[in-house]
Amino acid sequence: MSKQFGSAPVSEAIIEACLRRSENYDLEGFLLGQGAMPAQIMFVGEAPGATEIVEGRPFTGQAGKVLEHYLEQLGLTRQDIYISSAVRSRPFKDKIIQTKSTDSAPRMSRSNRTPTKKEIRAHAPILDFEIQYVQPQVIVPMGNIGLQRLIGNQSTISNVHGKEIQSPIQHVEDWQDPDSPYQFSKKDYRIFPLYHPAAIIYKRSLESVIEQDLKALKDVLQAKNNS
Ligand code: URA
Repeated sequence: MSKQFGSAPVSEAIIEACLRRSENYDLEGFLLGQGAMPAQIMFVGEAPGATEIVEGRPFTGQAGKVLEHYLEQLGLTRQDIYISSAVRSRPFKDKIIQTKSTDSAPRMSRSNRTPTKKEIRAHAPILDFEIQYVQPQVIVPMGNIGLQRLIGNQSTISNVHGKEIQSPIQHVEDWQDPDSPYQFSKKDYRIFPLYHPAAIIYKRSLESVIEQDLKALKDVLQAKNNS
């Protein structure tokens, strides 16, 4: 395959099946991953937020700015990598805000939330296809949602960040069957987990940890290029 840039050509049938399975959940919008195909490295986040749904591109909001800083430290650009996530729509929750003034009506406020296991499972065939198509040599899950979607619930990002793991990854056995369970791949993948870029926004003390992790990832990628 010659190098292309864009979204992996996930079939309409897969997209429709995923959207149908998630239509009763509080999700809005839809976007595919984006990047180079094939790509040496694929980043897997959690789910798009409000900005991404408007822009139609992954990681364009606040977390996207931090991701760009990750890429700078790695000496990479968006043209070099593929970016995806566990869920392809924005999980939201609505809250009624009662204003103090008695003459203004209560208003609705919508915020992002963490996707549920059912939502992740409903959208799983899309990420499965993207991984098959993009053929990354290293997959970088960012945060617990991306990590556990790929290697199961036994690991947490705080235990495994910043080092390479060789592990099978989960994919749904039969995307046409809504009840199909996850199955582990026969082969091992090279996985290098990182904290999610949004984690830094909430916890500045992670900055130096992330810097160390990015240096370690850069070494892994360079060793790969020199081998
Ligand atoms: N977080 C994600 O995981 N993906 C995005 O596209 C934006 C924020």
